[in-house]
Amino acid sequence: MTQSAIIIFLRQAEGLNLIHILISMNTHNKNDGRRDFLKKSTALAALAIASPAIIKAGENDENIAAWFEKVPLELEINGQAYKLSVEPRVTLLDLLREQLGLTGTKKGCDHGQCGCCTVHVDGKRINSCLSLAVMNHGKKVTTIEGLAKGEELHPMQEAFMKHDGFQCGYCTPGQIMSAIGCIREGHANTAEDVREYMSGNICRCGAYPNIVDAIMEVKNGGKTV
Ligand code: FES
Ligand code: FES
Repeated sequence: MTQSAIIIFLRQAEGLNLIHILISMNTHNKNDGRRDFLKKSTALAALAIASPAIIKAGENDENIAAWFEKVPLELEINGQAYKLSVEPRVTLLDLLREQLGLTGTKKGCDHGQCGCCTVHVDGKRINSCLSLAVMNHGKKVTTIEGLAKGEELHPMQEAFMKHDGFQCGYCTPGQIMSAIGCIREGHANTAEDVREYMSGNICRCGAYPNIVDAIMEVKNGGKTV
């Protein structure tokens, strides 16, 4: 399909306000460079294959907002039941921090690369920045705030304090949640194992040796985590 044909197709199908943009893009100036021409062609192709619904949604902000209409979500977080209303695009991390005020779970990279945001879902560790909140409907979430029992710290929290497993502390909630997951998975049999299976949790302060010591102590202590 030529660029002109694409424009006519879009005009007939959608009656878009964008059409004047397309027309101006399609006015091929003989002085345009090859790179410029390729850019325009790529943009036109993207519009041509885009869902008509997506194109229509771009007509104004209200339509875009409608796409993100809130949906109901039920979760148990740290033993407490929540009935929530969330936009489908919201991550579990943002729900915890922004909507529920559970800021113990940290946002580092927001791209699944640092482990700061580690929480447990149904007992397993996950990066909450990579999980949409709505994907966890009906599940049990545990955050760092849910580990201690009143004044009594979780054994992993005790061990991190005993071994100085942190400096600035920013990565620490994620390290602790991940360390518990590591033991539960049976991946803390040696220090080498721990280093391997904790490698998704980055510590910019370099507290790694102390973190490994803390995890090994909890593992060898035999307490249930
Ligand atoms: S914030 Fe989730 S992995 Fe970095
Ligand atoms: S203690 Fe500072 S980033 Fe780990």
